[in-house]
Amino acid sequence: MPIVVVVGGQWGDEGKGRIVDLLARKARVVARYSAGNNAGHTIVNDRGEFKLHVVPAGIFYPEKTCVIGNGVAVDPEVLLGEIESLESKGIDTSKLVLSDRANIIMPWHRELDRLDELARGDKAIGTTGKGVGPCFVDKVARRGIRVADLLRMEDLRPRIESTLAYQNKVITAVYGGEPINLEGCCQAYFEFGKRLAPYIGDVSTIIFEANRRGEHVLLEGAQGSLLDLDHGTYPYVTSSVPSSSSSGAGLGVGVGPTDISRVVGVFKSYCTRVGNGPFPTELFDDVANQLRDHGKEYGRGEYGTTTGRPRRIGWLDAVAARYSVRFNGLSALALTRLDVLDSLASIKICTGYELDGKIIDTVPSRESVLERVVPIYEELPGWRTDTTEVRNFDDLPPQAQAFIRRVEELLECPVDLISVGPSREQAVIVNPIF
Ligand code: IMP
Ligand code: MG
Repeated sequence: MPIVVVVGGQWGDEGKGRIVDLLARKARVVARYSAGNNAGHTIVNDRGEFKLHVVPAGIFYPEKTCVIGNGVAVDPEVLLGEIESLESKGIDTSKLVLSDRANIIMPWHRELDRLDELARGDKAIGTTGKGVGPCFVDKVARRGIRVADLLRMEDLRPRIESTLAYQNKVITAVYGGEPINLEGCCQAYFEFGKRLAPYIGDVSTIIFEANRRGEHVLLEGAQGSLLDLDHGTYPYVTSSVPSSSSSGAGLGVGVGPTDISRVVGVFKSYCTRVGNGPFPTELFDDVANQLRDHGKEYGRGEYGTTTGRPRRIGWLDAVAARYSVRFNGLSALALTRLDVLDSLASIKICTGYELDGKIIDTVPSRESVLERVVPIYEELPGWRTDTTEVRNFDDLPPQAQAFIRRVEELLECPVDLISVGPSREQAVIVNPIF
């Protein structure tokens, strides 16, 4: 039975939350498989507008099981805050399950994130500062603290003790920072553990059994594939595996690749990026400002959900997008924010890069090379028509249809879903995904 993965195809903020919110209707289980509270989803539905950082976007359907997978770096304070805020708005969180194997973001991770960015100076990554990168470093170095450890002081204290002894040396000797207090840390995280206890469970089994019963499972990615630790614009990437490749998705919840039946890539009709790093199609003109501030008065402009930073804006980059389609093994595309292009007279798509007089159609691995490529554009006529009320593909203006068809051709992947506004019903379903 279908396990469907939804991944961001670009540099994050493609509108995955909104697509998951739509697809979750048919799913029994909705699971987050990677990243941490560096991610942010904005969801608008009949209950209001919500900004989620850790809790899966399926939470608004009370009958669904919502899962935070082992691949997620969890800041317990942030998660508890999110649960409280949802409950205070009448959203039931009792069917939320947190993997006992997920790694915990500890105070030294946030401190190391800050200190490391400072130390990098003008080569800073532009992280969200939530401690996610350093948490994954501890995980890989096999000294991380995991959710299950929070439940018993006998397990928690020795783990914190040994990792903190090491990290306090790093904080003070390498960065000249202030050491973190052991006792305060043990007490605070044990308390978090007590409050999280009702949510903790075995995620892999939940998903395996739902799949065996023939129920739909939706695996919800965070961030974008071009921020992938392996395939993204290294070193300007995040420290987890947002893509579905290398089984990022399966790995992050504990199911095998053969159980995954479809991977849907979410792409904006243009591109955005927050943080530093190469961005070949970046725009610095009025079009950028216009796209960034489209719908700003309704809180819909291109400003980070997590950090509030203005997002960098550019034209759709079909070279990077095609790469993303390939390494994610995408079966379909969801194209979001088509309506943001409504007022433009013409629209560009980057179809190749010029590098030292040659044309290339792949993404170079070195960021210093990617910084130098000059995008080659194809220009398509705009439609200058409001699309926010359109619900059928055939009712879209012909120029918008042509734009979508061209995207399919260039990315070599069908567009199954198009969004034309932030609310649940503002979507054109070309091909049902479940
Ligand atoms: P980190 O994940 O906080 O370490 O940040 C690493 C890079 O990923 C930075 O460029 C961030 O701006 C970017 N990033 C992390 N999470 C998101 C997200 O959810 N949306 C967009 N960019 C993100
Ligand atoms: Mg986001």
